[in-house]
Amino acid sequence: KLSPDDWTFNKSLSTLIRQAGPAPSVTSTSFFPLRSADALKAGVKNILRFLDPERDISILKGTLKPGDIIHYVFDRHSTTNISENLYRLLPAVSPMKNQHHRRCAIVGNSGLGKQMCNLAPVEEYFRDVGRRTNLVTMNPSVVQRAFRDLVSEEWRERFLRRLQSLSGSVLWIPAFMAKGGEERVEWALRLILLHTVDVRTAFPSLRLLHAVRGYWLTNHVHIKRPTTGLLMYTMATRFCEEIHLYGFWPFPLDPQGKPVKYHYYDALKYEYTSSSSPHTMPLEFRTLSALHRQGALRLHTGTCD
Ligand code: CTP
Repeated sequence: KLSPDDWTFNKSLSTLIRQAGPAPSVTSTSFFPLRSADALKAGVKNILRFLDPERDISILKGTLKPGDIIHYVFDRHSTTNISENLYRLLPAVSPMKNQHHRRCAIVGNSGLGKQMCNLAPVEEYFRDVGRRTNLVTMNPSVVQRAFRDLVSEEWRERFLRRLQSLSGSVLWIPAFMAKGGEERVEWALRLILLHTVDVRTAFPSLRLLHAVRGYWLTNHVHIKRPTTGLLMYTMATRFCEEIHLYGFWPFPLDPQGKPVKYHYYDALKYEYTSSSSPHTMPLEFRTLSALHRQGALRLHTGTCD
């Protein structure tokens, strides 16, 4: 069981906490010829050759000023400007400075847990993944997908309440990854400032992407565009001794052959598993499964009995 001091990476403004279960039955080649506790330690050392997550988790205030132009990571020909609001919310020091935790849970967005657990009370899951959420990621697209692009007062209220519920957490916003999300990011930032929401915002830079992609490439895992889940896992290896993953299941059927939603909160389909998709989630999943078998992490994909 996790103590209140343990932390949870929580994905895309989602609160659903998922049940632990048996190891997944997925086969794959072995990327890391490592075993048990040593696996994690060696993995961390290796990752640190590429990545300094304490530094790379966010651009810092001193490095930019309002009006500066930033090229999007995945849409290099498009740019955005650093708004006044974004500048105000840039951290002055790393929001993850000196963080160290014995156990961490990273929660993904697959529909597996919800479907199989039939919306069991969230409190039950705290037993498995801990109560405290230290970091929540907010992909700009979630404003559209889970909060209807704030079309009405009701949705704006809901979104604000969700932001307020993050009290004390780091809110990690990949604002410079792909074009198209500026307005949504700006809405979120405005609400945070207007209502003095108690979150520490973080905005990752290109360096994080390069470091994470480079790390997996040298381990012969060719990830075109790492998902948020993989970015979180890779960074967590720096902050956490033991890492548990929940809600990672990029497949339309569960292990028993029943349909599973791609996201537990919307109707998005599994186009991301096609070759034209920006992500390679099944490859990431096989990689994480291999690490699970080698004891470097715990991938929870079980049903709720
Ligand atoms: N995830 C998964 N299986 C799914 C859905 C999500 O394993 N069916 C994991 C992935 O690691 C993913 C994370 O949960 O990164 C969060 O889900 P999502 O918001 O879809 O991920 P993003 O990487 O932010 O995707 P996108 O860039 O398409 O918004």
